[in-house]
Amino acid sequence: MKKVYIETYGCQMNVADTEVIFSILADNGYGRTEDIGEADVIMANTCSIRDNAEQRIWGRIEQFNIQRRKRSGVVVGILGCMAERLKQALLDSGKVDVVAGPDAYRSLPRLLETASDGHPQIDVLLSREETYGDISPVRIDKNGVSAFISIMRGCNNVCSYCVVPYTRGAERSRDWRTIVREACECRDKGYKEITLLGQNVDSYKFEDVNFAGLLRIVAETFPDIRIRFSTSNPQDISDEVLETMASHSNICRHIHLPVQSGSDRILEKMRRRYTRAWYLDRVAAIKRYMPDCAITTDVIAGFCSETEEDHQQTLSIFREVGFDAAYMFCYSERPGTLAARNYPDDVSQEEKTRRLEEIIALQNGLSQESNLRDLGKTFRVLVEGPSKRSPEELCGRNSQNKMCVWPDTAHKAGDFVDVVVTGCTQATLLCKLA
Ligand code: 5AD
Ligand code: SF4
Repeated sequence: MKKVYIETYGCQMNVADTEVIFSILADNGYGRTEDIGEADVIMANTCSIRDNAEQRIWGRIEQFNIQRRKRSGVVVGILGCMAERLKQALLDSGKVDVVAGPDAYRSLPRLLETASDGHPQIDVLLSREETYGDISPVRIDKNGVSAFISIMRGCNNVCSYCVVPYTRGAERSRDWRTIVREACECRDKGYKEITLLGQNVDSYKFEDVNFAGLLRIVAETFPDIRIRFSTSNPQDISDEVLETMASHSNICRHIHLPVQSGSDRILEKMRRRYTRAWYLDRVAAIKRYMPDCAITTDVIAGFCSETEEDHQQTLSIFREVGFDAAYMFCYSERPGTLAARNYPDDVSQEEKTRRLEEIIALQNGLSQESNLRDLGKTFRVLVEGPSKRSPEELCGRNSQNKMCVWPDTAHKAGDFVDVVVTGCTQATLLCKLA
């Protein structure tokens, strides 16, 4: 049996895809290994979102080639977004034998077989229908507690900075029945938490089931499982979704709502199709339905033509919302996007870095404040396993997706436990058993 080693980069969607890939390969006689030194096939499931993500993968391709030179017959494959973006250029590097885009995973067995005979293979066709809905993913997470389920693929938003519509193609929703079937399999394997994944979950639509409907079906079919989802788009998140969350206690009180910028002028140039006021209105609606709901965000510093004043608007929306956590990035121009074609990348790297550092410093304070507000509160957490610090401590997340740690040798991964917050750091709630 040939052994396959896969490294996964980028978003949770890629983790879910790697699980689909292992399933397709297992059905075709391939086994999985976590030891690159014994792998017959070495692959990376890649991300193109920023230039540094791609640079890191080029570094890994060099490492893969050390194996490829050492052991004849080893096949190196590049999958996912970078495969889709760079296409033939990856094969032309001479360092890669197989290139497969996000919609080409069903052809992987054939591509790998032909490539192992010394013929490099590429399939980067995007599909309007592929959802891998019939496939039962092989779970690769370590703890067996929390699983990702992909509910849709692709993206139709075409934000001007973003490469995803080009690498993942047009948006399509997966049949909700296959989502429920996959959730059943997770439950039967003992999973206690499911995260529904899509680039823009609010535009999920299959037959007459929209995202609120899907949430309701999953939450009510699996009352003992916690439900999370990501990512929401400020333009599309509806009151119906908020109402559904509020009326189901097993849907977690956490919304990831990427703001990207606090300046209307920049939001318009980003083609985000909402304004600062609209965003703040959605935040107010979330808090109205669920006062205890955590809100996290993504932001880009130094987008084309961003001025100091625009940047100040971003800082001020961070203060106004008081995000619980944020992923913060410098703008990275992606070839082929609307921004790359239409606007000069005219904020210097130094200035981008300075603005990013300012946002990070502000958010660090906001995260700390958010955690301080939780002192004395009791939360139900799902145990993930021992904490990083000590085998005498467990860690797990609360509904708001905050990491909690507490002294405990009695419980185990997969248990639900009530804890009281007694202290905090910027990133963690320090607790004791309630
Ligand atoms: N440069 C920097 N950050 C980007 N993101 C998406 N495209 C870019 C880019 N070209 C960020 C956005 C998005 C997150 C996944 O990555 O904030 O929400
Ligand atoms: Fe995920 Fe986007 Fe990276 Fe693709 S480019 S792996 S969709 S984050």
